Amino acid sequence: MVVKNLYYDALSKGYAIGAFNFSNLDVLNSIINVSEKMKCPILACVSEGAFKFMREYLDGIVKAVKQSHKNIYFHLDHGKSLDMAKKAIEKGFESVMIDGSSLSFEENVELTKNVVDFAHKFDVQVEGELGMLKGIEDEVSSNQNIYSNPDQCLEFVKRTNVDSLAVAIGTSHGAYKFDGKAKLNFNLLEKIQNRLKNFPLVLHGASSVDRQDVELFNFYHGALKNAKGVDEELLNYVATKTNIIKINTDTDLRICYLANLKKSMFDNPIEIDMRVHSKFAINCLEKKIEDKLKIFGY
Ligand code: G3H
Ligand code: 13P
Ligand code: ZN
Repeated sequence: MVVKNLYYDALSKGYAIGAFNFSNLDVLNSIINVSEKMKCPILACVSEGAFKFMREYLDGIVKAVKQSHKNIYFHLDHGKSLDMAKKAIEKGFESVMIDGSSLSFEENVELTKNVVDFAHKFDVQVEGELGMLKGIEDEVSSNQNIYSNPDQCLEFVKRTNVDSLAVAIGTSHGAYKFDGKAKLNFNLLEKIQNRLKNFPLVLHGASSVDRQDVELFNFYHGALKNAKGVDEELLNYVATKTNIIKINTDTDLRICYLANLKKSMFDNPIEIDMRVHSKFAINCLEKKIEDKLKIFGY
């Protein structure tokens, strides 16, 4: 199935597709294992930073995984240029995000339209972004939250012909999303949905930053203080009751994977076969991803 059709399936049935970032084989293995076990589509997301990190062997990974796992769809996360989108499509990605959110509206329209015109020749789904999420990560950084403007969303979709749109409604990237209680702007989301009827929307910065995982990470010499994410009930509501059909998660996988890798090494101090530690962390990640897909209504 092409990714665009997956989105309309999710829209009509009231669930959201899990979009999980990976930058090593352990995380990708977990994603594949869960997709097989639950027989569900998952977007395996590669940021520009992860793209560079995995270098030319990403080509082989995409080909090999696509051969045996039809439910895994490779997606470029926060691509910043047409050139980057072309590179991903050449490698066999079925979906690309073009993130022009730091540009002016007109520049964002122009860049996104160029990517759409190219990508659609190959049936590749394109996600655009309007508004900006706060948070600092390698290639994706902004220190302010700028909500999406509903009127601009409509104009943006019409002018670019983009297939899906990432909206800024109060989440942010990374482990520190809220000072107090997690809050999303559902009023704004409703306005966007009223302008863009039956149109696939995307939520970035959706990690829950689970307290237990943070405590485990900190127990083994971590120092993530006051980390806070999006509550699971909010995510379940977003996934099942709104037009958000793709939910992006990276931070939760990072914390879970590293916390459990540290735990395994601490608990087995003479074990030097890294596969033993990887296996333990992969199992924990699988449980995390599986739980998330249930929360997303799959
Ligand atoms: O939204 C951003 C993702 O978490 C990717 O982060 O650029 O550090 O790979 P990264
Ligand atoms: P988190 O940092 O909340 O996991 O968000 C990830 C994301 O939006 C990737 O594009
Ligand atoms: Zn993101």
